[in-house]
Amino acid sequence: MENFANMEKEKKINIKEADSDNEIKRIWEIRNRPELRKVSTNQKEINLIDHIKWFEEKYLKNKKNKCFVLNADNQTMGYCRLDLNDNNEYMVSIALDPTLQGKGLGTKLLQEAIKLLNTDKTILAEVKTGNKPSLKLFQKNNFEIYNKNKDYIHFRYITKK
Ligand SMILES: CC(C)(COP(=O)(O)OP(=O)(O)OC[C@H]1O[C@@H](n2cnc3c(N)ncnc32)[C@H](O)[C@@H]1OP(=O)(O)O)[C@@H](O)C(=O)NCCC(=O)NCCS
Repeated sequence: MENFANMEKEKKINIKEADSDNEIKRIWEIRNRPELRKVSTNQKEINLIDHIKWFEEKYLKNKKNKCFVLNADNQTMGYCRLDLNDNNEYMVSIALDPTLQGKGLGTKLLQEAIKLLNTDKTILAEVKTGNKPSLKLFQKNNFEIYNKNKDYIHFRYITKK
């Protein structure tokens, strides 16, 4: 399988905070892919106008929440959202375009997003029990399990800022 090291030579990978119209639209496209809706907590299809309004309120106007994107050859292929909850902890949500999954880019995006977030707050993740790639992603990136039930596994990452 093609891995990230090989891919880096071919594609120019850049991870940054999402701010352009095109990046925000690509986040919507990726989020609405049927494969991704299946593993999301909210499985409904979202329309573009609602998505743009939601994104502006949640990330552009509210500087506490962060949404990073992974651009490959200037095309947005993944996102990592970090949303601050009422307990002052970040909740992470990460997704890649299905064409780029399983090549190590999820790890690259998660690590870089945490670095760019640059916080001393705890980061939480909620993963469906059957979502193997996601469970592996958090386990191999030093997230610890603090709670599980039949539907979800909850992870926690204590930042070492
Ligand atoms: C979760 C996700 C971001 C992970 O990114 P990725 O680039 O696919 O993951 P990585 O390549 O960095 O690898 C993660 C691990 O999962 C493994 N993995 C990938 N696809 C897998 C699959 N279908 N079944 C089992 N393991 C799998 C990889 O082998 C790797 O483990 P390893 O390093 O021991 O080999 C990506 O798969 C995705 O977008 N999934 C759909 C959205 C989603 O589930 N988001 C998480 C919601 S909490």
